Amino acid sequence: MKYKHIVVVKRGPPENLRIEECDLREPAAREARIKVLACGVCQPDIQNRYGLSPFSPKVPYEPGCAIVGVVDEIGAGVRRAVRGARVAAYPAFGGYAEYIYLPESRLVPVPSSLDPVEAAPVVLNYLTAYQCLHRRARVKAGDKVLIIGASGGCGTAFLDLGRLAELKMYGLASGSKSSVLTQFGAIPIDYRKEDFVDVMRRVEPDGLDFIFDGMGGDYINRAFPLLRRGGVLVEYANPGSLRATLRLLARSLVRNLVPDGGKLKGYGAGFSLIYRKPFLDDWAILFRLLAEAKIRPVISGRFPLLEGGRANALLESGQVVGNLVLVAPSLLS
Ligand SMILES: NC(=O)c1ccc[n+]([C@@H]2O[C@H](COP(=O)([O-])OP(=O)(O)OC[C@H]3O[C@@H](n4cnc5c(N)ncnc54)[C@H](OP(=O)(O)O)[C@@H]3O)[C@@H](O)[C@H]2O)c1
Repeated sequence: MKYKHIVVVKRGPPENLRIEECDLREPAAREARIKVLACGVCQPDIQNRYGLSPFSPKVPYEPGCAIVGVVDEIGAGVRRAVRGARVAAYPAFGGYAEYIYLPESRLVPVPSSLDPVEAAPVVLNYLTAYQCLHRRARVKAGDKVLIIGASGGCGTAFLDLGRLAELKMYGLASGSKSSVLTQFGAIPIDYRKEDFVDVMRRVEPDGLDFIFDGMGGDYINRAFPLLRRGGVLVEYANPGSLRATLRLLARSLVRNLVPDGGKLKGYGAGFSLIYRKPFLDDWAILFRLLAEAKIRPVISGRFPLLEGGRANALLESGQVVGNLVLVAPSLLS
């Protein structure tokens, strides 16, 4: 039997995504074969295709970093995963596919009551926001925060989780997308029309407790002075290259040496591939919040699983609010 998956055949635009077929094989020892029900279309998928990440794989490779699926077959020695169980995973690559093979250790249980489309953004975008808020920053109710890149996949997850944590939120977004910020109780700043530094100095003269930056570049230097003494800027944007990653590390070391100064902290979901426990704990919390309807991912588009190219083109266009999700045909009908 054969199955289809998407392959990035060369660096560059979404046209370089191709559908290919390969043989369905039996899973190896301690591995499960997962039938993919939904896969998030994430900004790292785009950046990797252009080679804009220190971790971009060599072409050809299979994109797709955040899946929800059902265990279809298990290999020898698999102990916990059972056929038919609903699972999620952050494989980093390979999710734009009808099937994906993953080690059992990488599978996260997902309540079967959940809509796989709503669960898909939890795997990376909500995890990122949750861990930045609660592990890197340790926010508490009433904290004043600024979210840079607030209308996107991660940004809307920050807004949703920030509302739940009762934060006072400001967010940078294009004016046309401001309604999603107000919907979550945040105060929008149209960074295209106003200088956000001037606005923040005026409205929060005592400074911000936390800044969450998904844009990087110049934003770090511009936003950092807006922190109060002891405030923290959490940088989760992809730095773009190994050199930029090392520069960011060096900068945060220097900043963090200043007593009582603002702190700069980085965040990378990629650590889940080597350091499992806090990630498994936080996915469990997030899937419970979703099951209890305490969080509600913004889904602005669903595409058939093998139409990753079309979904990538839309995400790249910069028009998307929230998340795009690739969906198995059985869930679209
Ligand atoms: N560290 C991690 O583990 C991790 C995990 C996931 C994602 N990321 C990174 O986080 C970043 C954001 O990802 P995402 O999934 O949220 O992307 P996304 O869904 O594509 O959203 C990005 C948002 O940025 C806004 N934007 C674009 N240019 C801007 C600018 N100059 N100033 C302010 N906002 C701007 C866009 O909306 P407007 O029209 O409103 O400007 C867009 O909504 C990416 O660099 C991604 O690689 C990191």
